[in-house]
Amino acid sequence: MSDLQARAKDQRARAESAADVSWRGYPQAATAEEDIERTNAHYDLPPEFFLTLTGGRWNCYSCNLWDDATTETESQERKLDLLADLMELRPGQRVLDVGCGWGGPLVYLAKRYGVRGVGLMLSAPQLTYAQKRAHIEGVGVEFRVCHWQDYVDAEAFDAVYTDEVIVHFQDKLSYFNKVRSLLRPRAVMLNKEAHFASSQYFRPTAAGLVVSDIFEESGSYGLLHDELALVDQARFALERAISIPIHNYKKTLEAWQDNLKRSRGGLEELVGPELYRRYSRYLRVGSRIVAGPWMTLDVVLARR
Ligand SMILES: C[S@@+](CC[C@H](N)C(=O)[O-])C[C@H]1O[C@@H](n2cnc3c(N)ncnc32)[C@H](O)[C@@H]1O
Repeated sequence: MSDLQARAKDQRARAESAADVSWRGYPQAATAEEDIERTNAHYDLPPEFFLTLTGGRWNCYSCNLWDDATTETESQERKLDLLADLMELRPGQRVLDVGCGWGGPLVYLAKRYGVRGVGLMLSAPQLTYAQKRAHIEGVGVEFRVCHWQDYVDAEAFDAVYTDEVIVHFQDKLSYFNKVRSLLRPRAVMLNKEAHFASSQYFRPTAAGLVVSDIFEESGSYGLLHDELALVDQARFALERAISIPIHNYKKTLEAWQDNLKRSRGGLEELVGPELYRRYSRYLRVGSRIVAGPWMTLDVVLARR
């Protein structure tokens, strides 16, 4: 039995003996500070590492849409166009991107749809790169290092969105309540996220631990119907819940693997061969996970 398999078995035994119905495969952070520290352990690498890994013009670190796309940039734009269509973005609207990565998605939306807005992230290296990108592309968006719990704004938003970010949030109901407080009446919230296809898949597996480890256990996937219940509890009206075919994730992860391989020498120099090896393994294992029946990928659109 490998070390990972033994750890998975141990976690399963503990989870089962605890009979903890709220258990979702990964330990939950105790405080916001711990939350920030764990999340940044993944993201605080030099931006060049993630820009190379994600590729394309907009560097989305999330699943892109590959039907009708032949390049990474096209796949990123197809995905962002879908989100923009669902939110019905129009010029002049004010948009909040919670968990904005290296700024590419919000900068694209500002250029293509004429929106303005704010992007939040936790990681300082992400901020520096996102600000540089907005300046180069000449768009009026702002970026801030700020946990969503601490964000306040005098002007309301027309749309607030998250693209594969709430997996990091320990208290998702408080997040949805916060979004409600930031939106003007009748404005929209959009969340794109992966979910377990069944509560039977909450059990830890060796593959799940590889992904959990690379994210310093800062992630916790849930079920789509649990998320919809929280959205309702936060007094949103559901407009759409659409499923994105998971084969798009396999293609996205394969593209990221190719990007790593192509730049192996430079990336090993940048972050060291051990970290390079761990990322290659996580992408390989991730591809196997999304090729199976375990996960769904969904977009939820709800109105205040
Ligand atoms: C997987 S990346 C997704 C980035 C982007 N949405 C995309 O599609 O490219 C997760 C992002 O969420 C941010 N994040 C995680 N937890 C956060 C929190 N509590 N408040 C604000 N940002 C957070 C991270 O700093 C990172 O930028």
